Amino acid sequence: MTTAKLNLNGNDYEFSVVTGSEGEVGIDIKSLRSASGAITLDPGYGNTGSCESAITFIDGEEGILRYRGYPIEELAEQSTFEEVMHLLIYGHLPNASELQSFEGKLQEQAHVHEDVKQLIDGFPANAHPMAVINALVAALPGFESDASDDEQDIIRLIARVKTLAAWAYRRSAGLPYVASAPGLSYSADFMHMMFGSQGAKPSVSPEVESAINKLLILHADHEQNCSTSTVRMVGSSGATLYAAIAAGIGALSGPLHGGANQAVIEMLDMIDKDGGDHDKYMAMAKDKSSGFRLMGFGHRVYKNFDPRARILKRSADSVLEALGVNDPMLNIAKQLEQVALSDSHFVDRRLYPNVDFYSGIIYRALNIPTEMFTVMFVLGRVPGWIAHWREMRLDPTTRIHRPRQIYTGSTKRSVERLSER
Ligand code: SDX
Repeated sequence: MTTAKLNLNGNDYEFSVVTGSEGEVGIDIKSLRSASGAITLDPGYGNTGSCESAITFIDGEEGILRYRGYPIEELAEQSTFEEVMHLLIYGHLPNASELQSFEGKLQEQAHVHEDVKQLIDGFPANAHPMAVINALVAALPGFESDASDDEQDIIRLIARVKTLAAWAYRRSAGLPYVASAPGLSYSADFMHMMFGSQGAKPSVSPEVESAINKLLILHADHEQNCSTSTVRMVGSSGATLYAAIAAGIGALSGPLHGGANQAVIEMLDMIDKDGGDHDKYMAMAKDKSSGFRLMGFGHRVYKNFDPRARILKRSADSVLEALGVNDPMLNIAKQLEQVALSDSHFVDRRLYPNVDFYSGIIYRALNIPTEMFTVMFVLGRVPGWIAHWREMRLDPTTRIHRPRQIYTGSTKRSVERLSER
């Protein structure tokens, strides 16, 4: 199958076909408009490929997720977040010397300009941390004293977003800022800056460090999702890495996307407070007019279990046990999943738990406040966003993203005088 044929208004058109390394097929319609005058129309881009990419592969039918060919299940169990960041951005798992160099650069660059603290202090304590981190990432270049190239910006941003995320929490909790501590992993250093004390010896337990490491790996990339496509779109104009990542943070904040992890816990809490009446909420989830959705369920691509949800469900059990935490939310979530997976509305529409359904329960066990859940998603996803931004910027065929439209408004008319309107 090397070409696709189209007949439009009696004219035949032929288009080449691109086949990916996993057998996915795309019809290359670059010449469609110039040849036929027509465009395609695909609201929500459910059938539209925006690019070819070598970073992440998802098979929604089989529930498969691989970063650069490595199954997410293996990476989540065997790798550090630093190794996965290197894999996503540079295309290979680092050897010992590459890893040591990468970790060293991240630790060197974790400091943030002192004046940034004034910017954070300028936010009210009740400002949502997603609004704070969004503004801080967009503002960061303004605090960089020396010129830097794209590769240096990548290291700086990864290193500093961890500090900014922790400080956004410290601001909301009215706590003093804790500086990055040398010699800690990315995950341990983040939790030290979140819950440690300035000058005190870091005391992040191996269980907590391991849980954060796994959560960040599971959120690290997911091919052309809403926020990653936003990063590519903004980056295609030549905007800075910081501007593109800030745009990605904005897209991720929506409750249909990364904001769902906060919405899941709020939903479970609402159900719990309402006497745990699953049937009432299931009925609402099936009634479109209710405006209620089962948050953490469903996915544009996965029509099977999201492999990350499977891993997170198991991790929720093991992390809560390791930390000696007994959270009723976990049982409510499991009961809701069981009810939904036996309900025809969900079965017929192939709606399964996604990455956001169980993640919040683990964040709660780690004492991370609900409003910080999506900031945790940002922290995990930054290397994926950067990997796509870099892949696009290094691709000589990249053009500014500029979709077309089908106009449905008024045809040509003249301005009526006020007295005639
Ligand atoms: C993430 O794209 C990615 O890869 C994202 C992500 C990543 O890693 O980047 O995986 C992270 O964003 C996960 C998704 C988190 N969002 C939620 O959990 C919010 C709840 N889920 C839904 O809003 C919805 O499932 C979406 C947004 C995830 C997907 O939306 P789609 O693909 O546009 O599907 P749709 O809204 O057209 O729904 C199809 C049908 C509809 O019913 P019918 O019109 O066929 O009658 O399924 C129903 C929907 O009403 N449906 C749901 C539902 N999700 C879909 N019904 C009840 N509860 C739900 N959660």
